[in-house]
Parts: sequence; structure tokens; C-alpha cells
Amino acid sequence: MALSCTLNRYLLLMAQEHLEFRLPEIKSLLSLFGGQFASSQETYGKSPFWILSIPSEDIARNLMKRTVCAKSIFELWGHGQSPEELYSSLKNYPVEKMVPFLHSDSTYKIKIHTFNKTLTQEEKIKRIDALEFLPFEGKVNLKKPQHVFSVLEDYGLDPNCIPENPHNIYFGRWIADGQRELIESYSVKKRHFIGNTSMDAGLSFIMANHGKVKENDIVFDPFVGTGGLLIACAHFGAYVYGTDIDYNTVHGLGKATRKNQKWRGPDENIRANLRQYGLEKYYLDVLVSDASKPSWRKGTYFDAIITDPPYGIRESTRRTGSQKEIPKGIEKWEKCPESHVPVSLSYHLSDMFLDLLNFAAETLVLGGRLVYWLPVYTPEYTEEMVPWHPCLELVSNCEQKLSSHTSRRLITMEKVKKFENRDQYSHLLSDHFLPYQGHNSFREKYFSGVTKRIAKEEKSTQE
Ligand SMILES: C[S@@+](CC[C@H](N)C(=O)[O-])C[C@H]1O[C@@H](n2cnc3c(N)ncnc32)[C@H](O)[C@@H]1O
Repeated sequence: MALSCTLNRYLLLMAQEHLEFRLPEIKSLLSLFGGQFASSQETYGKSPFWILSIPSEDIARNLMKRTVCAKSIFELWGHGQSPEELYSSLKNYPVEKMVPFLHSDSTYKIKIHTFNKTLTQEEKIKRIDALEFLPFEGKVNLKKPQHVFSVLEDYGLDPNCIPENPHNIYFGRWIADGQRELIESYSVKKRHFIGNTSMDAGLSFIMANHGKVKENDIVFDPFVGTGGLLIACAHFGAYVYGTDIDYNTVHGLGKATRKNQKWRGPDENIRANLRQYGLEKYYLDVLVSDASKPSWRKGTYFDAIITDPPYGIRESTRRTGSQKEIPKGIEKWEKCPESHVPVSLSYHLSDMFLDLLNFAAETLVLGGRLVYWLPVYTPEYTEEMVPWHPCLELVSNCEQKLSSHTSRRLITMEKVKKFENRDQYSHLLSDHFLPYQGHNSFREKYFSGVTKRIAKEEKSTQE
């Protein structure tokens, strides 16, 4: 009770993209900056308007320095389901909280923001005039005001059924915008070194936020590719390190991914990518190494492991091995004379995720986070398939659809227990182990045409 008295109400205006990823992002960032997310607030669904109760404006500002899922935050002065309700709510807002922003020496501007409806200029002016009862004493300045106030009207989510009157109306003092512009400024289209699986900039920042990556952290990506995830983590001030099994990718050699270029040019590598964004000082190193055989001494090195393992669709799932490791008749391997060059074996997705969880459990600091993508065949997906580990607690599990029958799920786990040797075998005793092996067939199903066939069947039944 005492806590709720000290909380202030803020309005978050969320972006209408990657809807499932928004709540875990905001929760993770609030926990990073000392604000809590009350469980009663978890009913936002798809709406772009979220009311947050948090202790201070500082927390709100810190949140906005990181979020790519929220557009803006406002100190909420009033809220109602009709103009009358809004005005009476505003009349109840303590004047002493308004006065510092409305006094005669100040300049201000009022903006009207609508969701799912466009208003005429005349309608907007009417709404501004209706607020005359507020004790504004400063001067209007449309170009460079000290304070910006907004009326935000919510006309629901259905573009085919726009109501005459808004469902909700909010009035607040604008505090800060989020980091949506990073999606453009870090766009893969303008990046120096890319590959055909380079992670989209927006999702990379979301992953870093789910991972609670912060200044001076050490972040590791065991399937680093062109380092898209390292870039996002370095932007938030973390020192970054990665490995990849592919020599050409790590050394920036081989065929280029860009259309008009045949071969990768000199200096097309992850370090140069970081340099492009002024982040080179955060580069620790990248090595050619097989994630199934980590070469680390025992210890807890990483604050976060943020990664996008291969699904075998646009890149292969391989691991190094020797022919002796393969039971005859079970696996096919590339014929290769006995030499120091490791033979490359196929790497089952289920084994890859078990290795990843064990590695994270061993090498993360307590409280450190593992964030990774899990590909799933949606008709067969159940929550039990999400890999489990006694040292890692599931924080969030969000779906991104890839096709009508496949998706990938962004899994975030937090290390909650120190790793002991026996923990690496716990999955064998777990109920998760069997359904989880279904992942081995993800690639087969993706390519088998089964998804295309089902989509065709669905289309013909709709016709
Ligand atoms: C989905 S891509 C990662 C893309 C990366 N996030 C980016 O932004 O470019 C997966 C990467 O895992 C690598 N890989 C496959 N098997 C591996 C293994 N056993 N150990 C380490 N890396 C592996 C592939 O070479 C590929 O570069």
C-alpha cells in the first residue's frame, strides 16, 4: 500500500510492431532500472496505449533511452472514456504537480495524437480549445517549446470499424521518445559487412533489451555470423565477443551477399562493422570455433549470451568431429582423409540447444541472461518443447511467424542457480526431453513442401 502511494502514472505509446516482444522488453528494462512491473498491469494485449505506475521520471527516461518497442512516454495527468471523463480526471490532478510546467515564464505546445482515425485541423483545434480550463500561464511556442503536452485518442484496433468517438482519451506531459530511430540508423541495408542471415536491426536491439545488456557487460554470441547481435549489444555499452564455425564468415572472405558484388572486399568483417557505428572500442574478438565443443576453462565469464543459432534453412547446422564419433549407418558424413582438418558432421537441433543451455548455465554469471531463437513447426509446437535447464529460469517466450506453419520463438532465460556437473544431464530426466527432440525434424518439414501443401489446402477450402 505504502509503495503504491509513491508511484506516479505514466502513459507509454507503444509501436504496433513485434507485439509479443513488447511486454518482455518493457519488463526487462524496468527491472534493469529499478522499476517494477505490477502483475495487475499485464493486460495490455495489442493496444498501443499502456499505463505504467513507476516511482520516478528518471526511471521513465532511462527506459526510453533503451526501448525500441515504445515510441514515447508521457506523465499522465488525466484519462477518461469520454471528453467529460477526461476533463474531470484532469481537474482532480494535483495543481502543484502541474504548476512547474505551466508558469508564466514557460513556453508550451499542445499536440493531438490519434490512433486509428485522422482528425481535421479544425477538430484538433477544438480539442485544444476545450482545455482552456487548465491553468496555462506560459506562452505558446510551436517551434521550440519548453514543454509539450499531448491529447491522445484511442479509436481501437480495427481499421474496418472505426468508432465515432474514441474508446479512451489521455492527456499527458511528454517526457521522452524511445529509440525507434535505431532501426533505421543501424539498418542492415546500410551495413558494411552482411551475410544472408544477418539479424534485423530492430530485433537485435529487442534481443539485447530482453537480455538486460548494460554498460561494461561482457556479451558472447557463440553463433556470431556477421555480428548483428554484437553491434546492438555494443551500442548499449557492452564489450562483445563471438565465435562461428565458418572460417570465411569470421575472416570476411568468400562470396559477397550483396547483389552487385561478387566477392567480399577487404575489411569486410565484424570489427569494421563496429567501427562503422563508432563502437570499435567494444570489440573483444571473434574466433573460428565450434559451439558444440567450447574451448573455455571453467568459469563464469559472461553477463549475457545473445545468439541466433542456425536452423539449417539458409545456413547449415554443422559441428566438427572425427569419423570415429559416428556410429556406422546412423549418420552420413563428408568423406575426408584422416588429417588435422576436422570432419564436419550434421548437428541435430535438439543437441545444439542442449549444448547451448549447458554452456550458458556454466558460463553466465548468476542473474545473467541467455536470449536465443528456437525454430518451431507450429502445428506440433507445445510449450513443453522449450528446452529446460535446472540452472536457467524461463523469463519469456515470444513468437515471430515465419510462414503459415513455421515460426521462431525468442526465448529468454535467466541463470538462477550455480552450475554443478550433474546439472548437464538433468534434461534426460525431464519431461521436456522427448517432445523437444521433435525439433530435429524442423528442417525436413520446412523443405518437405508440407507447409506449402497445407497453405494450398487452406486456400482452396476458403474459396
Ligand atoms: C543464423 S546465423 C547467425 C547470424 C548472425 N546473428 C548475424 O547477424 O549475422 C548462424 C551462424 O551459426 C554458424 N554455425 C553453424 N554451426 C555452428 C557451430 N557448430 N558452431 C559455431 N557456429 C556455427 C553459421 O556459420 C552461421 O554463421
